[in-house]
Amino acid sequence: MMDGQRVVIIGGSSGIGFAVARQVVADGGQVVLGGRDRERLDAAVGKLGDAASGGQVDTGDKESIARFFDRIDHLDQLFAPGSSYGRGRLTEISDELAESPFRSKFWGQYYAVRHAVPKLASTGSVVLMGGAYSARPPSDGAAYAACNSALEGLGRALAVELAPVRVNVVAPGIVDSELWAKLPPQVKEANFASYGEQALVHRAGTVEEIAQTVLYLMTNRYTTGSVLYPDGGFTLR
Ligand SMILES: NC(=O)c1ccc[n+]([C@@H]2O[C@H](COP(=O)([O-])OP(=O)(O)OC[C@H]3O[C@@H](n4cnc5c(N)ncnc54)[C@H](OP(=O)(O)O)[C@@H]3O)[C@@H](O)[C@H]2O)c1
Repeated sequence: MMDGQRVVIIGGSSGIGFAVARQVVADGGQVVLGGRDRERLDAAVGKLGDAASGGQVDTGDKESIARFFDRIDHLDQLFAPGSSYGRGRLTEISDELAESPFRSKFWGQYYAVRHAVPKLASTGSVVLMGGAYSARPPSDGAAYAACNSALEGLGRALAVELAPVRVNVVAPGIVDSELWAKLPPQVKEANFASYGEQALVHRAGTVEEIAQTVLYLMTNRYTTGSVLYPDGGFTLR
């Protein structure tokens, strides 16, 4: 179903983005991967073969996003989950860290869409990355939860503004990706144990499960303005 389609994936060198890239290529599409680190990009492109290419971009820097899209002449699908941010309790977190989810994850995706749109096929789509903490916030991430809620609003508004281009949001719960390997092992263990108790299917998600949801949103021509929660039922408890 992705035959001949060009899919731009910022954050495509690892985790959920890379799993999407793998499924797109397996389905006959081409991918342009974005990320900050050249070596990680080259390694990902090497695993995907001739259907992949990569360019450096930092979603926390809107000039960098503009330069990344200058090198792209057309695309059919955009997915830009690559972002870097922190979280912490309201009275303890630094201003810099508190603002980081909006700076990189919200404005990063906003400007990615803005620069992609003039080159995006009218039959194509945008999938925004949100997160299930929008609906069920943690006790130490008010700005991060609010950022995910804002992305759901952005998705609905852009679906209206950009039609017939479709715009949807994927809002996963905890996913077992490389992101967790960057944190101390006890942080991953504690988060996965608590998530396992709360989610109805008693485990974190896999990157392949989230990628499957993203591919559905890219290919189903009747779905726009939607938010999907591949979260194992976390938001219901
Ligand atoms: N994993 C989860 O539990 C989970 C749950 C809900 C939502 N999400 C969302 O999914 C996104 C991706 O998570 P993941 O689990 O796939 O993480 P990951 O395995 O760490 O992959 C992150 C990808 O994004 C790129 N990236 C990071 N910061 C970037 C920036 N400032 N500009 C451009 N690219 C950047 C990374 O490459 P470089 O480091 O080389 O830039 C990498 O390719 C997260 O940001 C989060 O919003 C994740």
